[in-house]
Amino acid sequence: MKLSINIDHIATIRNARGGIEPDPVAAAALCEKAGAHGIVVHLREDRRHIKDRDVRLLRETIKTKLDLEMGANEDIISVALEVVPDLITLVPEKRQELTTEGGLDVASQKEKLKNVIARFHEKNIPVSLFVNPIPVQIDASKEVGADIIELHTGEYSEAKGVSEQKRLLAELKSAAVHAKNLGLGINAGHGLNYVNVRSVVDIHQIDEMSIGHSIISRAAFVGLERAVKEMLDLVKR
Ligand code: PXP
Repeated sequence: MKLSINIDHIATIRNARGGIEPDPVAAAALCEKAGAHGIVVHLREDRRHIKDRDVRLLRETIKTKLDLEMGANEDIISVALEVVPDLITLVPEKRQELTTEGGLDVASQKEKLKNVIARFHEKNIPVSLFVNPIPVQIDASKEVGADIIELHTGEYSEAKGVSEQKRLLAELKSAAVHAKNLGLGINAGHGLNYVNVRSVVDIHQIDEMSIGHSIISRAAFVGLERAVKEMLDLVKR
């Protein structure tokens, strides 16, 4: 199982003072040194954390994999086509949300997404779609040409009580099996932490986790390298 680290909140802390520290480029290097398999940044329309300059610098410095998370709007698409990340993860984006709230509704915008994905494929950039773990969205992802889906683990992560957690885990498992049968690559993420990640690791169809907030939070207490290493130990199969 691979682990990519979302470093958006390094930029959140930096931007709180409007200066240059902590630097996402330095953070990415520390994550890689600790053994992370990739770095994820979300360039939001409002540029609330990661800025265009960060993405350009990270493109030059990252040695593993740069996964650019983004909404499918023209402004960001043009940055992505210029930067050429190693992977693009398309997410829904609402300006008012605190974080990405739900999966992308692929089924209701197939034509649009097919065109956007084709533009990225022309540049040989693989595309992942962040979707809820339900068959209709997974089938639609395959139809529009996605290479990978990222299963939204937010609902599972917020489940109250063991039976609810079990039900949502079973939903993730059957979604992963379904996607695997369609030949899609499978990532998973959102809300995963040092406690709830283990059960998701046990879903063997999942190739990679994308985790941010819990690791950056732990880094405040134990340092980024140790926080990443601890999570790598948990995602090992
Ligand atoms: N995957 C996607 C598509 C996301 O939007 C996010 C949040 O930016 C994550 C993974 C990471 O979520 P978290 O910060 O809760 O670990």
